Amino acid sequence: MKDYVKVNKKVYDRVAEQYERKSAIFKRDYNAIMKPFQERLTKKFGKGASVICVGCGTGRDMRSFANKGFDLYGIDVSRNMAKIAERNVPEAKIMVGDFLTKRFSRKFDGVSMTAFVHLFPKRDERLIIKKVASILVPGGYCIMTTAMHSKPKEGYAQKRRYRNVSAKRFRRFWTTDEFVNSVKNVEGLELVDFYLKKTTKKWRETWMILTFRKIR
Ligand SMILES: C[S@@+](CC[C@H](N)C(=O)[O-])C[C@H]1O[C@@H](n2cnc3c(N)ncnc32)[C@H](O)[C@@H]1O
Repeated sequence: MKDYVKVNKKVYDRVAEQYERKSAIFKRDYNAIMKPFQERLTKKFGKGASVICVGCGTGRDMRSFANKGFDLYGIDVSRNMAKIAERNVPEAKIMVGDFLTKRFSRKFDGVSMTAFVHLFPKRDERLIIKKVASILVPGGYCIMTTAMHSKPKEGYAQKRRYRNVSAKRFRRFWTTDEFVNSVKNVEGLELVDFYLKKTTKKWRETWMILTFRKIR
């Protein structure tokens, strides 16, 4: 496991309960973000299409997939985040492990990877996208999100908005061009959708939401 993954694993283990409470405010936003993606998957693969949530956290997005009858999987490196996800989405099959090193014995129709890529340095961007491509069936879709930033930056920094915990984790700030190009630069993938969405006033961020397809 890479050093920054070890650090992030510890941080998410520590903040899991707080994360669960905070992420609830985005439930409605993320239900709306997932709806067209879920419709796309159902149209292409039928009801019960298989989906894996990568960095599933405490299961906010998985709940929305489970409500719609998807065959649902999740993976998270933090045991404490995964435990809460199991509580929230008992029907999902959740694995605890590092996505980058995990060997998957099957492929999926869809991958959902929300608020995940910014936990990796730029130098590993291709590793993540290629790993996603390797677990998608041909024609399968991936949705990914991260916050928009005007200048790229990365390093260890205290996770904001968390009280009474030391939570220094690895974080990368992505620009729009970088985010879109991360997919465009990989052969066999096609960008199918990209848009921006403002978060609640309280958080004052803009999210980038990107969907790509594995062509073959
Ligand atoms: C910011 S949270 C996002 C959780 C969820 N997708 C959401 O949007 O609420 C990122 C999650 O990715 C997990 N994570 C970080 N690195 C990982 C890795 N290498 N493999 C699997 N999960 C990882 C963390 O433990 C954390 O639960």
